[in-house]
Amino acid sequence: MKLIFKYMKPYLLIVIAVIALTFLQVQTELTLPDYMSGIVTNGIQYGGITETKPMIVTQKDMDKIIRFLSAEDTAKVMSAYQKVNKGSVLSVDKQQVVLNEDAYLLINDELDEVMLEALVYNYLAGQYGLDNETDASAIKAQLADKLSGLEDNYSSMARLYIRDLYADVGLAADSIQTSYILSAGLKMLAIAAVGVVVQILSTYLATSTATKIAATMRRDVFAKVESFSSSEFSRFSTSSLITRTGNDITKIQQLIQMMMRMMLMSPIMGITAVFKVLRYPNISWLLIVAIGVIVCAMVVLAVFAVPKFEVIQKLTDKINNVMREFLDGMLVIRAFNSQKIEEQKFDDINSDLRKTDLFVSNVMNIMGPVMTLVMNALTVSITWFAAKQIDIDAMTIGDMMAFSQYAMHVVMSFMMVTVSFFMIPRSLVSVKRIKEVLDTQNVILDPEEPKQLPQENGVLSFEHVTFRYPGAEEAVLEDVSFKAEPGETVAFIGSTGSGKSTIIKLIPRLFDVSEGRITYCGEDIRDVEQKQLHDKIGMATQKAVLFTGDIRSNIEFGRDISEEDLSEAIRISQSENIVAEKEGGLDATITQGGTNVSGGQKQRLSIARALAEKRNIYIFDDSFSALDYETDKKLRAALNKLIEKTKSTVFIVAQRIATIKNADKIIVLDEGKIVGEGKHEELLKDCEVYRQIAYSQLSKEELA
Ligand SMILES: Nc1ncnc2c1ncn2[C@@H]1O[C@H](COP(=O)(O)OP(=O)(O)OP(=O)(O)O)[C@@H](O)[C@H]1O
Ligand SMILES: [Mg+2]
Repeated sequence: MKLIFKYMKPYLLIVIAVIALTFLQVQTELTLPDYMSGIVTNGIQYGGITETKPMIVTQKDMDKIIRFLSAEDTAKVMSAYQKVNKGSVLSVDKQQVVLNEDAYLLINDELDEVMLEALVYNYLAGQYGLDNETDASAIKAQLADKLSGLEDNYSSMARLYIRDLYADVGLAADSIQTSYILSAGLKMLAIAAVGVVVQILSTYLATSTATKIAATMRRDVFAKVESFSSSEFSRFSTSSLITRTGNDITKIQQLIQMMMRMMLMSPIMGITAVFKVLRYPNISWLLIVAIGVIVCAMVVLAVFAVPKFEVIQKLTDKINNVMREFLDGMLVIRAFNSQKIEEQKFDDINSDLRKTDLFVSNVMNIMGPVMTLVMNALTVSITWFAAKQIDIDAMTIGDMMAFSQYAMHVVMSFMMVTVSFFMIPRSLVSVKRIKEVLDTQNVILDPEEPKQLPQENGVLSFEHVTFRYPGAEEAVLEDVSFKAEPGETVAFIGSTGSGKSTIIKLIPRLFDVSEGRITYCGEDIRDVEQKQLHDKIGMATQKAVLFTGDIRSNIEFGRDISEEDLSEAIRISQSENIVAEKEGGLDATITQGGTNVSGGQKQRLSIARALAEKRNIYIFDDSFSALDYETDKKLRAALNKLIEKTKSTVFIVAQRIATIKNADKIIVLDEGKIVGEGKHEELLKDCEVYRQIAYSQLSKEELA
């Protein structure tokens, strides 16, 4: 989680903006039910009448109202209304009315609720047939018991009465209603539109932030992996690294997006909706029951599903691994007819993955129906219990509708919050896997205070070097010491597995020695910056590697190399005919892994790459093995000429005596130890191992 926050830090402002937008969105979404409730209650039930003071009253009706008022209140009312005579034409609530009798028009909106009780009495008097009663106090007395407990409903009764008053004046009830519903509806539409815009905006911000973070993360993982030495590589398989940069980072991206939308939204929505729901205390207990059921269901599911997430990720790694090995070894697998075995391997993991995936999906799938059930049960119970409240006039139908919408919001939010609890551990598995890569400590590091290497070439010397591969017990090299002077060609020979490639890998610090030291120009190579060291070395590895691109890009390899040097490198490495042969010459396409060139061509191109820039040290690990004798010879002759000029040191590993016969120094290796060192003739005389290799390859005459 820390890792995610670290990556989110640069986007703090956007996150804050998203939070603000989310608040706004919740506000818009949660005011809509209020408007809807208004439309149902005020618009439909009360005919669009919202106020509890009539805008206009006939003289007759005013008299009826006043009879319930004290003298003081009457004075207040009278001063707030203006008398209008019969026959006048008025515009009230956008309607033209011609008065059939004298009336009072409200001119002071500030009038307080002095009329409310009087309106209620008049309304009830009508309802209970007390209209003809003239004595106000007698009416009051008769209605006293009916009124007790209905204090909350004064306003609705007053409004129902006002509707009658307007009818007496001649105002069209329909029109009042329509204009109310229309204006409320338009407001709802406007609010909904704002909501939509806000939602689009915040989703966009969240998505773009998440994708940007994912891209940064991918780049960081890539850069980190680039810095890995072989020992770090052995910790993660190639396919696992691919899954991590792909699948895992996508999961994290989804998590971030979810955090910025759903996980932010649901608590805000939930809490705000809870406050809205609390306005209806009589039935809000229903929600608590519903939430309880949901949380229980979720927890049960979580317990089953969550531990499986890590298993799925591991299986994905495995399946990628098998797939990769299969693809790499396709030709061998075909040749040995071992497809069946590979299929079996794949099937086993595949079915494991299927089972686990299915299990998790099933568990998740139960969630949907459970939710629907809870929601429907909740709707039914709300209707049931609210109906009872409406019956005793403690709620309106509009209230019920609003409540049920708020309730859905609360339930949905709770569900989302619980879903987040599911998703977070799932994504955290991915976060952990990325962290593992990013936190890997590189074994081969640059020194704190690097020493500088001189410009010109110097002596490279191995001093009592012993080496074990990381994690291995046995030493692959034991007490190896030798010196290579500038301009010298040093060759290594020995049976396979004798440690030739290992020696050579130590020079550019692909591995660090276990004991002893390697010095170049008098400095321990661990005391200089790796970059400086690498800049001194041109290397062609035992397994020639080409990259997607063309011949030119493979030789230049991102370096700034002149046309002259390029053609020189091609000439020395005997690659001219490759360039001539291939369509497009230097710009001929090389496919991924260099599959469209032969093994020998690959070797020559990688030799050209090593030679393209002038280096103090050249290393060729078995680079001449796939060349025919003739090409091998020409290549060495050209190389020798170059070295005479540059005074570079050359290390050659070879299996063929002919390749190294003329080297200045030949080092014979056997099981990681030097068993002979010298020139060809000397070794033939003194070194048994060398002699055996030589005799197995050359005729007596050739050797002489
Ligand atoms: N990455 C590695 N981890 C562990 N052991 C290794 C590793 N690479 C090589 N070895 C072991 O080190 C020993 C020497 O290997 P090395 O590659 O140096 O031999 P080589 O002389 O180059 O052989 P070849 O002529 O076949 O290329 C071998 O026994 C090999 O099994
Ligand atoms: Mg080797």
